[in-house]
Amino acid sequence: MRVLVTGGLGYIGSHTCCCLLDAGYEVVVVDNLVNSKIEVVDKIKTITGKDFTFYQEDVCDEKALDKIFEKEKVDAVIHFAAYKAVGESVSMPIKYYENNLGSTLKLCKVMKKHGCSKFVFSSSATVYGSPKTLPIREDFPLSTTNPYGSTKLMNEQILKDVVIANPEFSVVILRYFNPIGSHESGLIGEDPNGIPNNLMPYIVRVANKQLEILSVYGDDYDTEDGTGVRDYIHVVDLAKGHLKALEKANKDEGIFYYNLGTGTGYSVLNLVETFKRVNNVDVPYKIVGRRAGDIAACYADPTKAFEELGWKAEKGIEEMCRDSYNYILKQMEK
Ligand code: UFG
Repeated sequence: MRVLVTGGLGYIGSHTCCCLLDAGYEVVVVDNLVNSKIEVVDKIKTITGKDFTFYQEDVCDEKALDKIFEKEKVDAVIHFAAYKAVGESVSMPIKYYENNLGSTLKLCKVMKKHGCSKFVFSSSATVYGSPKTLPIREDFPLSTTNPYGSTKLMNEQILKDVVIANPEFSVVILRYFNPIGSHESGLIGEDPNGIPNNLMPYIVRVANKQLEILSVYGDDYDTEDGTGVRDYIHVVDLAKGHLKALEKANKDEGIFYYNLGTGTGYSVLNLVETFKRVNNVDVPYKIVGRRAGDIAACYADPTKAFEELGWKAEKGIEEMCRDSYNYILKQMEK
């Protein structure tokens, strides 16, 4: 089976490509390198010992997509390519809507033309807004608080309408919680440009002294230690979820929604302390005010993914912390 992976050189995409190749799928990657590096092509090949086809193209470019579909005869699409910085989406909403919605629309159009009807979509727990209770189930009410989140929710709506109009389509929507960690080889991982927004990349850069001190955004939330609680999930577990989603899309027509999380929440301070302990490194931090738009706690009920896909996260928080740091140490050796 031949799978087209958009954004396949990015953080989650590259790990998923490795799992797909390991499992014997043929892989075609489309990535415009806007937030990824060309070296990742060779790294994926080194990790898996397998070859795949890479196109440096923009998923919003319908003509380019059409040519790729014509040539490659893909059976399914996993769509990762998207802008993902929450803060930037607030200041540049048009850029976010144009890219994140445009890419899905073009993909659906070209897929329909070429008779490809299996689609796995990267969504986010951000579509649950501020949940009233925890853990979060897939049938919870949906809402968003920033343009990035709105693009995820609107994409879900677009895909729902595409399935209604095209009953032969199979769409699996995966709502990710907080992916961290990296491949055990240390060859691929998360390496954002500039100063990181997310907690783990920030911790890593404080640990290796590229940044001085971590700001912990608030210690007055209604949580065990007052700091924000999130459901951190190892990116390799997340990647494996995509293979299960593909199997589902192959088996059943319709649209299906799954949380990909561990079901366990860790506070900011829990994560910092675990990171320090397993990596034997210091991570100085200071408590500062809350970050606008943050919620106190967010963690998944992952039961549906287990019951319907046979997927569950296997790697614990210590492995996540170790692998996140290992990737950066490997990068620094170069
Ligand atoms: N935090 C800090 N200091 C930092 C960065 C984060 O204390 O420097 C805290 C946050 O306040 C929060 C927790 O660490 O309590 C996690 O923050 P992240 O930015 O790592 O992750 P978020 O849960 O805010 O956001 C993530 C993704 C978004 C997605 C959202 C919901 O980055 O893309 O989950 O799914 F929308």
